Amino acid sequence: MTILLIGANGQLARDLQIEFAAAGKKHELVPVTHEQIDICDRRGVDDLVSSTRPKCIINTAAFHQVDLCEEEPQTTFAVNEGGVTNLAQAAHRHNALLVQLSTDYVFDGVKRSADVESDEAKPLSVYGKSRLAGEHAVEQHCTRHIIIRTCGLYGLAGSQNKTGNFVETMLKLAAAKRTPRVVNDQVCTPTSTRDLARHMVQLAPSGAQGLFHMTSTGECSWFDFARECFRLAGVHAPVNPVSSEQYAAKAKRPAYSVLDNLAYRSAGFSDFRPWQEALAEYIHARKKTGLQSS
Ligand SMILES: NC(=O)c1ccc[n+]([C@@H]2O[C@H](COP(=O)([O-])OP(=O)(O)OC[C@H]3O[C@@H](n4cnc5c(N)ncnc54)[C@H](OP(=O)(O)O)[C@@H]3O)[C@@H](O)[C@H]2O)c1
Repeated sequence: MTILLIGANGQLARDLQIEFAAAGKKHELVPVTHEQIDICDRRGVDDLVSSTRPKCIINTAAFHQVDLCEEEPQTTFAVNEGGVTNLAQAAHRHNALLVQLSTDYVFDGVKRSADVESDEAKPLSVYGKSRLAGEHAVEQHCTRHIIIRTCGLYGLAGSQNKTGNFVETMLKLAAAKRTPRVVNDQVCTPTSTRDLARHMVQLAPSGAQGLFHMTSTGECSWFDFARECFRLAGVHAPVNPVSSEQYAAKAKRPAYSVLDNLAYRSAGFSDFRPWQEALAEYIHARKKTGLQSS
């Protein structure tokens, strides 16, 4: 089937290109970068979908700099709700499946146990609210859809793009002999884009539809995650644990946003591996590509 991949230079999209290619010639992927299409351009989105006639559209594009979203709510909603609405309507007109990415930040973290898909979303931030609005736009405008909530993505392309990723930020700080301050009271499950892409390649063509939580398994605080990055990379560097209050980020984040991949397992797929194993593969892969931590 023909799959239109939006946001093609991003971390997840780059791994989707690798994993769909590895899956063989069953799927023709049409990668489209931000330079080629802005999802806020309704006419442009319509023209693109009309000319490529995809059976499936995967949208990895988002405005997701969480603290900046607090300062720029209009832009945030324009992309994360408006842009998604454009894609949902175009997909629906062409009877295409829309695969839309979303986030653990749709939850408030008060429950302090893993959230399943039927749990009520109560976002704390502009970013979280805009992503939930995007989910609703997909449900409202596109009959055939998959919504994937994931968390803390890191992938090799993140070392090259402008938003980067947490692992690379930690390793760069250590290489510069700076001690990172990392929150130890926000618990979630960081997820490798390579693992997510591998599972998405299974899910997207399977005929399954609806809302899916898709993260690595297990849980950790960002502080634990930073320390594991250093341990696996063989970097002997301190990490300074701080509370969210001390860190004082602009956007409020959930204290506990672990997702349970219940719907994915219930659809017959095998669950993700533990976050530590996925991180170990990433650290190994970045070394092989010549990325050095110091
Ligand atoms: N990263 C995380 O920790 C995380 C956590 C949970 C969920 N997610 C979601 O998972 C998805 C993939 O994340 P990722 O880390 O792979 O993102 P990423 O690396 O930032 O890639 C997103 C891509 O979308 C493009 N883009 C941004 N705005 C666009 C627009 N208006 N029109 C078209 N393209 C646009 C970006 O281009 P430019 O760089 O040129 O703007 C970038 O190439 C996103 O929906 C993200 O919100 C991410």
